[in-house]
Amino acid sequence: MLTYVFVCGKNWVLSLAELAAYFRARNIKFVIEYFSREFFVIQIEPIAVASLMADLGGTLKIGKPKTVLPTVTVKEAFLKKNRQAQKHIIQAMGASGISTGMTSATAEKIFFGVSVYFTDNTFSSVSGRIQRFVGSTVKDELRALGKNAGFMGTSSARQAKLTNVEVIKKRLVENQAEVLFCIGKEQTWVAITVAVHNPFEFQKRDIYKPNQRKIFAMPPRLARMMVNLSLCREGKVLLDPFCGVGTILQEALLERSEVVGLDVNAWCVKAAEENLEWLIREYGLKEADFRVLQGEVGRMVEKVGLESVDCIASEPDLGPALREFPTVPYAKRIIAKLEPLFFEFIDQAYRVLKSEGRLVVVTPYIKTRSKEAVTMPIGERLEAIGFKRVYIFSRDMFSEKLEIGRLLHTSSLVELDERHKIGREIHILQK
Ligand SMILES: C[S@@+](CC[C@H](N)C(=O)[O-])C[C@H]1O[C@@H](n2cnc3c(N)ncnc32)[C@H](O)[C@@H]1O
Repeated sequence: MLTYVFVCGKNWVLSLAELAAYFRARNIKFVIEYFSREFFVIQIEPIAVASLMADLGGTLKIGKPKTVLPTVTVKEAFLKKNRQAQKHIIQAMGASGISTGMTSATAEKIFFGVSVYFTDNTFSSVSGRIQRFVGSTVKDELRALGKNAGFMGTSSARQAKLTNVEVIKKRLVENQAEVLFCIGKEQTWVAITVAVHNPFEFQKRDIYKPNQRKIFAMPPRLARMMVNLSLCREGKVLLDPFCGVGTILQEALLERSEVVGLDVNAWCVKAAEENLEWLIREYGLKEADFRVLQGEVGRMVEKVGLESVDCIASEPDLGPALREFPTVPYAKRIIAKLEPLFFEFIDQAYRVLKSEGRLVVVTPYIKTRSKEAVTMPIGERLEAIGFKRVYIFSRDMFSEKLEIGRLLHTSSLVELDERHKIGREIHILQK
């Protein structure tokens, strides 16, 4: 098993759930050694990290740890400015091989960066100082190795971490030249970035596909996370019965699964087909197999076939676009109006899925004026039909010493953009 650090996106529970589902779908053994809002440390079987990164929607960076420090030493060094602790960190960094790695990666002038991630917010005020300290430590080591180096810091107004765009533009992965200083509760992992999320690839699929629909479409990163949560992979059949312009279908096709789309709107059917054809050309997916059908979700079994798909990932209508936060009674009326469509969908979904197939479905999560969230109570209906809720995390996924508390009870995930009045509640179910 190899240990990696995963720097996650904003919704860390969703990012961790995606990783766990991705490994499970492929029978890749893994143990979560540590998790926090900013990063995870996971032991996994040897795997090609660049292709793992390309397959994930919720991970921003993957790092290979080079040394591990006790966090008390990091606290002493930076919160109490203890010289002895600082020396200890310099020694550990020197023995880690980080700077020799940089010298072997490029013959040109070295240009490197440092990003600091932490669990305990008391490090927030000193993260800039830690970044400069680690930067000058590496620079001194490189000078001792006869190499001059440029160090890329961040301005004090921002947090002390480089964005993935900066890492890509400065070629820091190829040059083994980004140090990740990840401060956990008890241990601090000092790692080198080995893969980075490429936002340009996801953006390309979002804004360069031939047909787009701004208001309804889902961001490709979220679509990819849903595909992964559905345990979709090569050789499986994935259905999206509210496929719109085909965002979820695109991401599933990239996982080399067979995809089937359905939408009541004829324009959407044609738009999704053209988008998938574009994707196949753009990514050279020679063996790709897809069908997009027109029809009502109530005719899903008739259109797609009984027990014919392994996974369903879908986002039905989430209600009207709201200009302001609704009152609770109004939000409840929106939900009540949508319920028949969702119930019809769930009934049909159960019949279309193969045994043990997975359903990943988004329901509306409406923020109201009184701050109370109004959601769709689909639990009873799902159980009456025979679906089982999937609890995303299980004890055996985590290292024994780790306290996991409420995570074990996670059965739905909320994705909420601050600007939006309606968020998404993502449910995971199994037939
Ligand atoms: C929220 S959008 C899905 C967006 C999609 N994920 C995308 O990225 O384009 C919902 C879609 O469901 C379709 N739809 C609405 N009612 C339907 C029904 N009864 N049966 C099938 N499709 C329906 C709409 O035409 C719309 O394209």
